[in-house]
Parts: sequence; C-alpha cells; structure tokens
Amino acid sequence: MTAFPRRPSRDDSALHYGADYNPEQWPRETWREDIALMQEAGVTVVTLAVFSWARIQPTEDTWDFTWLDEIIDMLSKAGIDVDLATSTASPPAWLTMKHPEVLPVTYDGHILWQGGRQHWRPTSPLFRQYALEVTRRLAERYGHNPAVVAWHVNNELGGANVFDYSDDAAAAFRAWLRGHYDDLEDLNAAWGTSFWSQHYARWEEILPPRQAGAQNNPGQVLDFQRFSGDALRDHLAAETAILHELSPGVPVTTNLMLAANYQSIDYSAWARDTDFISNDHYLLPGEGGIEELAFSASATSAIADGEPWWLMEHATSAVNWRTVNPAKRPGQLRRDSLTHLGHGADAICFFQWRASAAGGERFHSAMVPHAGRHSRVFREVTALGRELRSLREVAGSPSLPARCALVFDYETWLLFQGDSMPDNRIEYREELVRWYRVFADLGLRVDVVCPQNDLARYDFLAAPLLHLVPSTLAARLREAVESGTHLVTTYFSGIADEHARVYLGGYPGALRGLLGVRVDEMRPLLDGTTLMVDGGGTMANGLAGSWCEPVEIVSPEVEVLRTYSDCQDTLKAGLQPGTPAVTRRTLGRGSAAYVSTRLEHSALSDLLAELIARAGITADLPTPLAGEVIASVRRGDQADYWTLTNRGRVDLGPADDVAALLGGTVLGGAHTLGLDDAIVVRVPRR
Ligand code: GLA
Repeated sequence: MTAFPRRPSRDDSALHYGADYNPEQWPRETWREDIALMQEAGVTVVTLAVFSWARIQPTEDTWDFTWLDEIIDMLSKAGIDVDLATSTASPPAWLTMKHPEVLPVTYDGHILWQGGRQHWRPTSPLFRQYALEVTRRLAERYGHNPAVVAWHVNNELGGANVFDYSDDAAAAFRAWLRGHYDDLEDLNAAWGTSFWSQHYARWEEILPPRQAGAQNNPGQVLDFQRFSGDALRDHLAAETAILHELSPGVPVTTNLMLAANYQSIDYSAWARDTDFISNDHYLLPGEGGIEELAFSASATSAIADGEPWWLMEHATSAVNWRTVNPAKRPGQLRRDSLTHLGHGADAICFFQWRASAAGGERFHSAMVPHAGRHSRVFREVTALGRELRSLREVAGSPSLPARCALVFDYETWLLFQGDSMPDNRIEYREELVRWYRVFADLGLRVDVVCPQNDLARYDFLAAPLLHLVPSTLAARLREAVESGTHLVTTYFSGIADEHARVYLGGYPGALRGLLGVRVDEMRPLLDGTTLMVDGGGTMANGLAGSWCEPVEIVSPEVEVLRTYSDCQDTLKAGLQPGTPAVTRRTLGRGSAAYVSTRLEHSALSDLLAELIARAGITADLPTPLAGEVIASVRRGDQADYWTLTNRGRVDLGPADDVAALLGGTVLGGAHTLGLDDAIVVRVPRR
C-alpha cells in the first residue's frame, strides 16, 4: 500500500461513512435534500460516478461535466468528501452500438448485450482506449480537486464479465500463456494434452476453454481463470497509471468482492495493485450469516496485510438479487458495520445513498429508503453515523493477528468450480466458513489467510480441503510445522500441483511426507451414509460422512486420534473398523494432523478443541462470551480495541459488564450486547 485516504474533512470524525451516490438519477431539488440528509446522518464521503459514463460522454464527441462539477461543489461545501469513480464499469449505448466487438462472450458463445451493465471485454484494445479516455478526462478535471480523497477504478472488476470467451480473449490468453510457459511443449506437458487428443502444435490452436462436448481440460481452465483475473488486473493497472500521473497523491482503490456470492477471482494476487484495499460485502440472510460476514472481513484484512481498509459497499437492509430478499432486523445494520470495523474497516459505506425509483435495483435498500427520512432505516443510519464519530480513536489501527488461522486458497476455490471431481458436492468456501464457526464456538479468534500470507507466524493453522498444493507451498507448510506451527488438514488436500495435475504415489500427495500417512484410494460417500469415529475411550466419538479413506500410517511419529468405528456404514464404505480416521504427527516443534473424513459439527469441534489444547492455546474469550461472540482486535498505540459481535444465540446483557470481563470499557456508548448487537471495547495496553 502506498497511501491511504486522508482523514475525513468533517473534523468530528476519523472513520469515513457514506455510500455510492447516484445524483444523476434525481432532480436538483433532491440533491439539496440529499446534502442536508447526509449532514444529518453524519456522512463524510460518497462514491460518485460509478455508472455515469453515458451522462459524462453522451455521444462520442460530447462531454458533459457540468452536473458533476456542480454536485462535487455542493458536497465539498458541505464538508463531504468524494471517492470518484472512473465511470468505466458500464459503457454507453453509442459505444457498443458502434463497436459491438467490445461486448463479452459467454462460455456457451452468447454475447452479453447492452441494457444491463459490465458489458465489456477486459481484453478489448478498443474498449481499453475508450475507457482510458474517460479516465483521463476525469483525472484531468478532478485530479487536483481537494474534495476528491480517493479514486475508484471501474466497479467490482470481474462481475458479469469476468470470464470472457471472445476472440480478443483468445488472443490475449495465448499471449498470457506464452509469458507463463517456456514453450509449447512445456504447456502441453503441464495441461496433459496427450489426453483426448488435445495436443497443441501451434499457439494459434489454443482457445479459451469454451463450451465443448465434454469436460474442458482442467489445466487449461485453471490457467484461463488466472488469465481472466490478470486481464482485469491489467485494466486496473492501466486506469491506475493515468490516475497516478494526473492526480498524484490521491490514493486509488477498486472495490473487491470478498463475499459468499462471488466466485471468480483470485484476489490474493491483487493485494499490491491498489493504494488501499476496499471490499463489497452482502450479508447472507438467515442462520450463520454473521459468521460468513466475519470470515469475509477477516479475508479482506489478510489481503490488506492487516492494515486498515474500506468497506465500500454493504446493504442497510435487503438486497434485490436473491430469490427472497429479507430485510435486516433492527440493529443488524449497526452490528454488520461494527463487525467490519473490528476487522479493520476504516470506512463504512453502503450501496447506496438513496433507493432508486427506477431500474433493476429499485428494490435494493439504501441509506435513504423509498419511505424517506421518516423510516427505521434512516434512523439507524443516523445513529450509526453518530456512533462512528465516537469510535474515532479506532481509525488507523492495524488488526492484531490471532494465534489461529484458516487457510483459504483462492485457486483451490476456483478449481472446485469445475466438474469431474470425486465429489462434486464439495462447497469449499462454505466448508471453511463451517470451520470458522467451530473456532468461534471454542471462543477463539481465527484469521482467514491466503497461502501467500506468513503462515509460520501462526501457532495453529487449519487448512481443510487444501487441494492445490504446489511444491513451494508444501515446503513452506513443512517449515512452519518444524518451527512450531500445529497444522490440521483434511482429505482431498495436497492432491494436485499448480497445473491441477495429480501427485502420484498415493494421497495426500504433496502433504504425504509431512503428515506421515498414505492413502491409496479416495472414498466419497453417497448422501445418507453416516460413519462413526471412535476416540478410543479417552477421546470423544463422533459422526462423520461424505468421504472416508483407508489411511495407512507410514511414519513412526504418527499417532492415531480417531478410528472408523464398527458400524454398518463403515463396512458398506469398504473400510475395516479400526482403520485410522484422524492422525497427528509431531515434527520439529510442531505437529501435522490429518482428518480423512468430513466430521460433523460436534465431532469437528471436539477434535479441534483437542488439537488446539495440545498446541497450548487457550480460548481468547472468557465465559460467558466464549462461543457466543465473534471477536476481532485492532491494536492502537495506547489500547487494543476489541469488537465483540453477538452471534445471536444469547442476550449477553449490559455492555459495561461485558467490557469489564475483558478488563476494558465500552467505546461508543453501546448499552447492551443483545442478540443483534456488537460493541467495541477499549482495553488499555499495559
Ligand atoms: C454491487 C455493485 C453495486 C450494486 C450492488 C447491489 O455490489 O457494485 O453497484 O449493484 O451490488 O447489491
């Protein structure tokens, strides 16, 4: 990170607060009301011009900045800062009518037409030219405007157009491959193109993995996913270069999508592409949504390397794009915001300021709902604005790493999108969130990290379903264990290298040596098969399913923690009762445990509790908070700031009493830690 936006112009705050603001959807009278309401709500920043290209450049030869000049001036006079978008997310109709060759093409060959948004090819040289022109004009005009505190490149790069299979994409894919492989034979070997007569004799024969008559080549698919992310990064870099040149000192960001509803990009590669990290997150409605939110926020913090970041979008209440879009309950808007703040967000922003009256998102919530200021949502929005001002001392403080971490590998996640796996029911991210929940149940903080992060800093590392393990990662995991990290991983980990090629000689492939076990056969189980694992009297028994394996012990340091019990389904699965199900091997100062089946919640919880206790780690939270809250900590100069989010099962009573349990005091004036609450506790550092 080279720069972070300066503190808000409103002098009574240090945390930024605001939303996407689309004044082009409203008449001037509404603008005046908007500014007054923003002041009432404590808004410090708005993101402008995200989808304004057609308004800024109504025809190829005409430019209109008057409205933008006017609204930036009005905002600036009101002390509201601007995060100015480059407007390139949605090209105007004149452009795509004149040049339909910039429109993206789907896997099955369909064109994504105008009339929605994000209908552009990341690799189109023509699109790039037009997009950079609008970026340049905006940067020239507003690059030195003191109201502009940040630049916002495009929007959610890689939403609808992330995988473009057009001819432009094909040409760029080939160029990318040439840069990543020594020669064509190197590529043929990596992809295993002897299979199904897929050998390439010339680079020109290579296409994006378009819809074919049978499964696409997994190595090709994985490289295409990497290439597609890099194509977007290239677009980001091109816009950023112009912004840096014409608007020096104003930090640049782009809003990432680390959330449950997106699965397209390896964001771990983007960590250094912008001056600061920002993320969009939308709460999963129903049970477990808050843990998923915390998981995503923690993953964002890892991309930001523990430094503060911006929550660029979340919703005050319902979204409009699920089958059913439940409203948030009273308090949840605040709870969600503080939970992000606890994980490092120094800006709490929403999509969007005022709910649209027309267009595809007219039923999406906003800071000002259709009902206007006399509404529950606006009251909560205003209260949050006040509270953020009283939390100002938290701003700028980095996240304090936990002792435990969960490894989330984006490439494994991408690969699991494909078919032809032994078990195509595996939902990698959901499974990791399930493990996250178990850590929370145990009263432990856990960081969601990516393989590129410093893994050896953690005392305990959980890496379930870590399928893609290049030899370099295997070596780093081994070093971490030898130097004292306690690792636990599961079935289907270590199986494949960076080209999705299977390691030979037995599973879990690249991790076999480290774990001291060998498996000669994977055994996914049909739904409804329930196995029992046996802890041998002293340790807990538990239920398992989905997968099992005949685990063979190959290293003398391996201890068996669970065996498959003598039950009907064990025999049906072809396993001998007594076969090791969970093992643990000591190595150097650490250990490496292997779980060969999918343990049900309480069995997983028992096992992790045992492994964590043996690693000498105790709960981060005292009773009665342990298990009932998600905790995150930011380290200030004088104090640590603990954000406690109630997981919604037990009313935890007066906030002062809760804060006292941590030896701290409540910051921000919260009274209770009820079911949909979160509080920030200031714990002085001794
Ligand atoms: C994304 C986009 C916004 C808006 C919201 C709706 O995050 O960036 O423009 O469409 O989704 O949830």
